[in-house]
Amino acid sequence: MVRKAEILEQIQEDMQEEKLIKKVKIETVEDLPGVGPATAEKLKESGFDTLLSLAVASPGELVEAGGLTESTARKVIKAARDTMNMGFESGEELLEKRKNILKITTLSKSLDSLFGGGIESGAITECYGEFGSGKSSIAHQLAVNVQFPKEQGGAEGMVVWIDSESTFRPERIKQIAENRGLDPNALLKNIKVARAFNSDHQMLLAEKVEDLIKEGNPIRLLIVDSLMSHFRADFSGRGQLADRQQKLNKHMHALQKLASNYNIAVYVTNQVMSKPDTFFGDPTAAIGGHIVGHNSTYRVYLRKGKKGTRVAKMIDAPHLPETEAIFQVTEKGLEDV
Ligand SMILES: Nc1ncnc2c1ncn2[C@@H]1O[C@H](COP(=O)(O)OP(=O)(O)OP(=O)(O)O)[C@@H](O)[C@H]1O
Ligand SMILES: [Mg+2]
Repeated sequence: MVRKAEILEQIQEDMQEEKLIKKVKIETVEDLPGVGPATAEKLKESGFDTLLSLAVASPGELVEAGGLTESTARKVIKAARDTMNMGFESGEELLEKRKNILKITTLSKSLDSLFGGGIESGAITECYGEFGSGKSSIAHQLAVNVQFPKEQGGAEGMVVWIDSESTFRPERIKQIAENRGLDPNALLKNIKVARAFNSDHQMLLAEKVEDLIKEGNPIRLLIVDSLMSHFRADFSGRGQLADRQQKLNKHMHALQKLASNYNIAVYVTNQVMSKPDTFFGDPTAAIGGHIVGHNSTYRVYLRKGKKGTRVAKMIDAPHLPETEAIFQVTEKGLEDV
């Protein structure tokens, strides 16, 4: 009997709350039920400062960030979602949305067509391949090109470069600029480079990108060169693979969120490992397993071709064929052969 009364009370409480939610127009984080000023402050400090960020959060994240109970966290997320209009969209609406997507040119026609016009905003593009295959070269060229006007295949945006291998070279940007008649200093100003010291630091840096955007920096390209080197080194022991994949998954989701919430092109490079048990086909595979593979929108394999050329092969893409492109790396950056 007691339990029944309790349940009834709970239902009434919920209904009351439901009514309250409907009555109060929710416009900011503070308006959400169960979020007082102190909690709002804590949530904001952890980056949950918009209704959208709460609507796409998981209860666990809010418990950790704002000290909410699990059930309040669920209510907060639900209320934030209700304000969002996160329902279904028609194919027509989606097509309209895709018009906002920008394609950043690589300046190689062959490579651009492999990518369906260029490196796409709102998506993660992963290039993997052996040393010297051109992964960092593509990153340098994109860091220049994203700054071009839209008519020239750019996105009129800035770059964040998360550098885990110390491969960013301002001299290389300068060289590309000078060989193409561009102002190197103006270009370098718009490239924000951060050295990542370990995998945790790399994850933290990715989270900080949102702050830069909120400060008004029009970031359109996020480079992570390379994605896996720290994860590989930090979790090299036996039995650490599950931990590594869990963290990696979190990192990939953070990158994915940045890409889709802010229409940013995310370009990540990845290493290869050899598959000694392969008898047919190419005996190499990207590291990071399914977590990286499934979270990358476009996945491209790079290898060295004949006479110093580079060959790029589309391995995975939502709507593009598995074709190959040939390009070369020169003092001008990327070029067609
Ligand atoms: N300034 C330049 N002029 C001509 N070619 C260059 C220049 N800079 C780099 N390259 C070419 O690009 C290659 C290096 O490619 P890149 O650094 O992009 O490889 P990567 O795939 O990032 O390799 P790693 O796995 O070692 O990071 C060099 O071996 C060279 O052939
Ligand atoms: Mg490199």
